[in-house]
Amino acid sequence: MSARNQRLVKVVDALVKDLHEFVLDHRVTEEELRRAMDFLTEVGKNDEMPGLADAFAMTTVADNVTHEEANRSATPSNIEGPFYLADAPSLSPPYRVGRPDEAGDPLVFRGRILDGPSGRPVPTALVDLWQADAVGNYDIQDPGAPAFNLRGRLTARDGTFELRTVVPGAYEIPKNGAVGRLLKQIGRHAFRPRHIHFKISADGWQPLTTQIYFAGDQWIESDSIGAAKPGLVAPLNDREGVLVSE
Ligand code: DHB
Ligand code: FE
Repeated sequence: MSARNQRLVKVVDALVKDLHEFVLDHRVTEEELRRAMDFLTEVGKNDEMPGLADAFAMTTVADNVTHEEANRSATPSNIEGPFYLADAPSLSPPYRVGRPDEAGDPLVFRGRILDGPSGRPVPTALVDLWQADAVGNYDIQDPGAPAFNLRGRLTARDGTFELRTVVPGAYEIPKNGAVGRLLKQIGRHAFRPRHIHFKISADGWQPLTTQIYFAGDQWIESDSIGAAKPGLVAPLNDREGVLVSE
C-alpha cells in the first residue's frame, strides 16, 4: 500500500473511532443523526464547507499544525480565508488602497518584514494584501464596490512598507446560510475582529500568509472562527486624527 493510502487508513480509522465515541458519549439518537446529515448535505449543496470548517476553527487548527515549525521563530501564520483574489493590482508608491473617498477612519499601516530567526530586514519582499471596508464587507460581497477595492500588491524595501487605507470593519459571517443559522441556534455571534490579510513572499524565504488584528478590538477574544491569536495583534494609535498601526 502507498504511504498516502496508509495515512488515509490511519486517519479514517481514528475518525470513525472518535465518531462512535461521540455518539455513545452524547447518546445521539437516529433522529439527531438524520438531522446532522441533512445539515451537512445543505452545507455541501450551498458550497459552505469552507465556512463550516472555519466556524469550527478546523482551518485554524490545521494552519497551526501545517506551519508549526516556522511559527516558532517568525510572525505566526493565519488562515487565508475565503476572500483572497490572486490577481490584485500592483500598487506604486506612495502606497494606498480604497476609493479616493473611501468611508471610514483613515489608517496609516506600517509593516516590517524581518527574517524570523535573526530579526534582520528582508531587502525586498512582495506584500499582497486585502481587507474589508469600514462596514466589514469585502469588495466581492458588495456589488457597488470597484473591482479589487481595498486590495493590492506592493514592494517592501529594506524590511519596511507604509500603506494608507481605512480601518476595516468587523466582518460578520452571513446569517442566511446554513452555517450562520447554526451559529444563531447555538447562541454564538458571527463576528470576526477587524483585520487585514497579508501574503508576503521574498526570494530565499518561506512565504507567509497571515492576518493582522488591532489591539482593543471588541471581538478579538471571541473571533467567530477562532483565528485571532496574540502574536498578530498590532496597536492602533490616534495621531492627530489619523490612526497609525505599526
Ligand atoms: C471568513 C471570513 C474572513 O474575512 C476571513 O478572514 C476568514 C474566514 C469566513 O467567512 O469564514
Ligand atoms: Fe478576512
